[in-house]
Amino acid sequence: MTSSPLDKVLDFADQHREQFEADLVELLRIPSISADSNFQGEIRRAADWLGGHFGNLGLKVELIETAGHPIVYAESPPVAGAPVVLVYGHYDVQPPDPLDLWVSPPFEPTVREGNLYARGATDDKGQMLTHVKSVQAWLETEQKLPLQVKFLIEGEEEIGSGHLEAFLKENAKKLACDCVVVSDTSQFARGVPAITYGLRGIAYYEIRLTGPNRDLHSGVFGGAVTNPANALSKILAALVDNDGRIQVPGFYDDVIPLTEEERAEFRSLPFDEAAFQQDLGVEALSGEKGFSTLERRWGRPSLDVNGIWGGYQGEGEKTILPGKAAAKFSFRLVPGQDPEKITANLRELLAGLLPPGIKLELVESHRAPGIVFPFDSDYLQAAADAIEQGFGQRPVFIREGGSIPIVSTFAEQLRAEVLLLGWGQNDDNLHSPNEKFSLADFHHGIAASAALWARLATVHQDQ
Ligand code: BES
Ligand code: MN
Ligand code: MN
Repeated sequence: MTSSPLDKVLDFADQHREQFEADLVELLRIPSISADSNFQGEIRRAADWLGGHFGNLGLKVELIETAGHPIVYAESPPVAGAPVVLVYGHYDVQPPDPLDLWVSPPFEPTVREGNLYARGATDDKGQMLTHVKSVQAWLETEQKLPLQVKFLIEGEEEIGSGHLEAFLKENAKKLACDCVVVSDTSQFARGVPAITYGLRGIAYYEIRLTGPNRDLHSGVFGGAVTNPANALSKILAALVDNDGRIQVPGFYDDVIPLTEEERAEFRSLPFDEAAFQQDLGVEALSGEKGFSTLERRWGRPSLDVNGIWGGYQGEGEKTILPGKAAAKFSFRLVPGQDPEKITANLRELLAGLLPPGIKLELVESHRAPGIVFPFDSDYLQAAADAIEQGFGQRPVFIREGGSIPIVSTFAEQLRAEVLLLGWGQNDDNLHSPNEKFSLADFHHGIAASAALWARLATVHQDQ
């Protein structure tokens, strides 16, 4: 029996498992932390590493400078009659702190129990690299891909993709494609791969309160001067009520509600709430009244204080009334909600909550709308078949609560379908200490990706 091209490609990938793992380890050793300007050189090293890697595969590579971190672009030759796929991913990572909670150092990748531990292992270097390695397997066995693949790998996803939108606008022709493939989300559970058809958006702020012009003795002044840390606590507490409803005026006006069908779909997923809770070490879960945990995480907005500071944090006690207090907080948004409108209404709410003797400054940062995609297309069916082949299980369709800011722009600007094919797990500790990626998921992801190129290539073109 003669084996098909895809069989040979999958065979090649299987025989090169160790080399592929070694390549991922090399990339993970580079601390490409986008948020910290001390790591700019490392960001560039990661971009150069990727560029060199694409070059070695024989792809046409460009390193594109932006006002921020560089974009790595690479493409294989066009294939007449076959669709064009754009693979998007990011080579930047979140800061690794708190360092003392890591069992092995974040940038010294280490394998324990079949998992590769390192910052960026699942988010997103490991997931992104599955597509690079599948392309390598195709090129080394068949000398060509069944369709054209374009890679767009950026270095600013973890800081909001601030320069990517302009790049997309200016390079619409170069990036023209039929669908966009992103592996930067999660499977539903172990042994339950998923295709994600919706993501939440985000609106992120820093609130800074200023009271007296210096820290004061809390005995001499306390009770007579408004304490900015007290004021901050009150303001943050007033943003959500006891039923978990966000108090910004009009906050829910434009929320597209979950349909009964969708709620039924969520209920039918094999979600083990007790295990979820146990993994987190909490005795109870909470959230907006009237909604289940999956609904709250995927389909309803939320508010989180991401950091809070002010006053004395050192050893022992210091009886002061601090002059300043501040916090970072963010809303996760769902489709329908407009981040700009929410900011305007938030400002109005905050103005009304501000006690006398306190000045307020609100600084806006990340902003992205929530999204849902229809999931009845031929590309999605091809992706489901490829995942079934790579992971040995048919995927379920899910939404997720995280955000990938540029994804809505792909849909609007490139008018391409977006396939969110996540190979990670919910307990991969993304953004947390001991981030990991299962080596099994890495290799299954490579196999699914290799099969994806074959399957997408056969999808009939409209024009
Ligand atoms: N890969 C994540 C997003 C994600 C994770 C989506 C898990 C679904 C499931 C991405 O790298 C990320 O962390 N995005 C940020 C965006 C923010 C910095 C604007 C997020 O969601 O916090
Ligand atoms: Mn990511
Ligand atoms: Mn991330």
